[in-house]
Amino acid sequence: MAENKNILIVGATGVVGLHLTRLLCNGTSGVTVFAATRNPEQAQKKLGSLPNLNFRTFDLSKKQTYAKALQHIHAVYLIRPPEVTRIRKYYNPFFVVAKKAGVQHIVFQSVQGANSNKLLPHHRIEQLLMQSDIPYTILRPTYFMQNLSTGLRQEIRQNHRLYVPAGKAVFNWLDAADFAHGAAHILLRPHDFRNTSLNLVGTENYTFKEVSELCSKAWGKKVIFKNAAIASFILAQIKSGMGVKRALIMAAAHYFARFAKPIKSGVTLEEITGQKPSSLFEYLNQNKSLTLQE
Ligand SMILES: NC(=O)c1ccc[n+]([C@@H]2O[C@H](COP(=O)([O-])OP(=O)(O)OC[C@H]3O[C@@H](n4cnc5c(N)ncnc54)[C@H](OP(=O)(O)O)[C@@H]3O)[C@@H](O)[C@H]2O)c1
Repeated sequence: MAENKNILIVGATGVVGLHLTRLLCNGTSGVTVFAATRNPEQAQKKLGSLPNLNFRTFDLSKKQTYAKALQHIHAVYLIRPPEVTRIRKYYNPFFVVAKKAGVQHIVFQSVQGANSNKLLPHHRIEQLLMQSDIPYTILRPTYFMQNLSTGLRQEIRQNHRLYVPAGKAVFNWLDAADFAHGAAHILLRPHDFRNTSLNLVGTENYTFKEVSELCSKAWGKKVIFKNAAIASFILAQIKSGMGVKRALIMAAAHYFARFAKPIKSGVTLEEITGQKPSSLFEYLNQNKSLTLQE
């Protein structure tokens, strides 16, 4: 099933990348994984020791790192780190260098709505990728459950509340680990997914109020939803150590979800991998430690 190939994972230390890297290293003969990272030493600590794992120094905002990182690479898993804002400046040359290096498939982790919403930076990356003449697969996931364990964690721990400017917006909840399974499946079967775009959806739609009730049930302690004013949310995120760009993006993603059209169609990960996805309740049960003070 797997072709003998070298896969470079951009964002290998990130939310999806950690799962994807582990999956590809542990489960697949014939695949050598290269974690692209700005800091190989730290990435090594984060990922631990895995078979068939190598590191490549790579920074999207440093064009001089592209050629070396892409040497002998057949496929790339690509993300748009929230901090990288100058899309044309960096992604255009990245695709040129990838083409020159002989990359045969790029799987891009985009975001829900990026096909039509021109304001999203992911929209421009999708366009550049489609024009690059490199076979591609674009994956547009919805909302990761892991947001609860990353950006929203501090408020859960300290104040037992979900504090987001989301109002009554309904989110489609997706486990990043399931999503990584789908991405791995696609990376190993490039011909089946050549030049396609997939809107990937989870099976559960909830408001944050509903999720707070699920949290209370799973964790056995009261968790409330507090609708945050957008400025207070940004300040709270920055105070908790988040970078300004990331805090702004998070605020916008939650706030504008109020005006988004409900998701009508998409592909579930079960349709791709045949594997049942985890429910949000299962995820919360597995992450009870989220409520513990550090
Ligand atoms: N969170 C969601 O619910 C959600 C849903 C759909 C789509 N998305 C999209 O998923 C993407 C990732 O978002 P995330 O917040 O989950 O981030 P993340 O995966 O935590 O991303 C951080 C990763 O980006 C890498 N990185 C940061 N700056 C870099 C640079 N200049 N060059 C190369 N690599 C760099 C980091 O690697 P090193 O530190 O090792 O270099 C790290 O692995 C975003 O585009 C977001 O819009 C997110």
